[in-house]
Amino acid sequence: MAWKLTKCELDNPNLLLDESILSLGNGYLGVRGNFEEGYPESFSSIRGTYINAFHDEVEIVYGEKLYGYPVMQQKILNVIDAQSVQIYLDDELFSMFEGEIIHFERSLHMEAGFVERIIHWKSPKGKEVKIHFRRLTSFITRELFAIAINIEPIDGIRQVKIISAVEGDVSNFVDLRDPRVASGHAKRLYVMEARKEEDYSIVKDLTYVTQLEVACVTATDICAEKYSYESQAAESRVEEIYLCEGNRPIEFTKFNVYTDTLRHGIEVVEEARKIQERLEETSFEDLLMEQREYLDRFWLHSDVEIDGDAALQEGIRFNLYHLLQSVGKDPHSNISAKGLSGEGYEGHYFWDTEIFMFPVFLMTNPEIAKNLLLYRYSILDSARARATVLGHKKGALFPWRTINGPESSAFFPAGTAQYHISADIAYSYIQYYLVTKDEAFLKDVGAEVLFETARLWVDTGHMDNGQFKIDCVTGPDEYTCIVNNNYYTNVMAKHNLLWAARVYQQIKENDEMHFDRLTEHLKLTDEEVTEWREAGEKMFLPYNEAYKINAQDDSFLQKARWNLDEIPPYKFPMLLNYHPLALYRYQVCKQADTVLAHFLLEDEQSFETIKNSYDYYEQITTHDSSLSYCIFSIMASKLGYREKAYQYFQETARLDLDNSHGNTKDGLHMANMGGSWLTIVYGFAGLRIKEDGLHLAPALPDEWNSFAFHFQFHGRLIYMRIDKESVSYQLIEGGKVILFHHEEPIELSSEKKVEIRQYEKWH
Ligand code: BGC
Repeated sequence: MAWKLTKCELDNPNLLLDESILSLGNGYLGVRGNFEEGYPESFSSIRGTYINAFHDEVEIVYGEKLYGYPVMQQKILNVIDAQSVQIYLDDELFSMFEGEIIHFERSLHMEAGFVERIIHWKSPKGKEVKIHFRRLTSFITRELFAIAINIEPIDGIRQVKIISAVEGDVSNFVDLRDPRVASGHAKRLYVMEARKEEDYSIVKDLTYVTQLEVACVTATDICAEKYSYESQAAESRVEEIYLCEGNRPIEFTKFNVYTDTLRHGIEVVEEARKIQERLEETSFEDLLMEQREYLDRFWLHSDVEIDGDAALQEGIRFNLYHLLQSVGKDPHSNISAKGLSGEGYEGHYFWDTEIFMFPVFLMTNPEIAKNLLLYRYSILDSARARATVLGHKKGALFPWRTINGPESSAFFPAGTAQYHISADIAYSYIQYYLVTKDEAFLKDVGAEVLFETARLWVDTGHMDNGQFKIDCVTGPDEYTCIVNNNYYTNVMAKHNLLWAARVYQQIKENDEMHFDRLTEHLKLTDEEVTEWREAGEKMFLPYNEAYKINAQDDSFLQKARWNLDEIPPYKFPMLLNYHPLALYRYQVCKQADTVLAHFLLEDEQSFETIKNSYDYYEQITTHDSSLSYCIFSIMASKLGYREKAYQYFQETARLDLDNSHGNTKDGLHMANMGGSWLTIVYGFAGLRIKEDGLHLAPALPDEWNSFAFHFQFHGRLIYMRIDKESVSYQLIEGGKVILFHHEEPIELSSEKKVEIRQYEKWH
């Protein structure tokens, strides 16, 4: 069943992997899929609960520290652990690793928003019990993580003891061998309070440096025939103990409310308590109903249906579900590279958001997309400050990786040097405008971001023989660093500059008051904007005559080629096995770079150049970054390489479910998850957002009978279905709209579905 993902493994490392796969989240709170009662000591586990953007700062230790290197780095924290529940049957502690498992399954319910674990167990002394765990992080009350446990003693049990704990003494995970995971600073929280007060267990922690506080206020409840209760608080932990007599069923619930000083003010305990009070009359079943309503709406806008491959169907739903769980829904937060499912990349936000995940929300849930843009706006001052440190007189340089604004990348060649992130952010503002036509947002928020990033380009590049050139930057391909005229960066900067000039003109002509305020605030003049326009128009875009391709940068094609077939499989990903300089010396790409630019700005080049470039770069791309397959799939679709498009799609759709990159235990690959949606909608359905409207060029993969999805455009909700005979478009919400199907305009209105017999068009 594609809505329910079931896992039955009980071995390590599978359990570790399932902690990520069965993690829960709601954009604010994330809880890994650990067992409430834990595993045996010898098993590894990353037991984690995270709050989006809740972080500490740690000093970056350099061997040699040069001017402008970031001093501190942010780090998402594993916060107070409220998952723990131990169950004793008489004197025996319930554990899945002792006794006999008569039945076990656990499932993620993607249409209903919870995880459950169903167990039928016989203890070593032969006592039998059925236990049903359910847990959820509420999409409605974002601070809430709730657990419900039904215990059904079957045979000869006199007493069931439940010990429910909230633990404030927690640490982060570290791995010295993998640069994608933190290598130190595991412990970053002091326990400030751990006490029991009235109906609540209260634990409060404080970060070492940022002085942020997090509280967890927990309420438990039990429905049992006869029981006694006691509680105890130690230095860092509060325990509640229920002793239930007789061989009778028990229903136990645990509602954990988390608050933090970033969002809830300084009285975090008080705020959490208020939320608990509001939830007093709410049962776990009520929460499930709310989840269902929320998700019904989400899936109505976001579902992708694939008829013809159940495994891929499962993959795409799983990816969409986790995107929803991970995306920040308040202006403090964004989507980190691993979402809220693990600690890889330390909870940092990258360009992954704008290029791989933002478009999914833009086309399905624009309000969430808008919040992502507002987050970037909230760190604009940090980006301005960073530009100054880098020696720029003006402009904003967005950090390569960050939580609250300051640059957190210690390795500048593949970090800060990726200036393209500023153009990527500008690009997402433009896409948002083209899809929503939200003029007010463009004026009030977008314009400033476009202007400040345009300034950065003019200050970074220079005119050379009538062409605008940008030196010493790194493009998306992290195996080629600090180069002159990276095609991707230049073409994205061009787009950024020309749009900035255009938006300036638009505001100047239409809203004098706003124009005066903005130009005064930014000290912006017509002369400066003329420079942007000129830099954009004269932007140098490297092209190689011999190969008839866009060169990745000025020197790329002069380097020796690395024959990837000669590298043994265990040497991948290459970043873990070769010194960076060894990689930089060769034509070898970690991920799509020029090919990605051809996707984002396809009208900049002829079909022939795009095709030649794809053929060339595909040979030397390792896809060591999970951000790569989806782009190659989309472009393969565009170029008519149907088999390849499908193969690359297969790599993306189940990357985490199949752990094909080997590190899903550290968290899910969120950009790839967004990318798998892009491969369907931008790849197979050929969607492109252009100035004159929305273009679609659908083609059905041979392996499928049909696929269908919803998208939003100009406030309309549209349903599109492609099968072997036809393509149909149906307006679900909103008024008449025109779309382009294979370049031909079609009008959609609520009266009737538009059906196009596709074979007439294509063959
Ligand atoms: C990729 C980057 C990406 C980062 C976080 C790296 O491996 O090369 O493009 O931003 O991972 O996902």
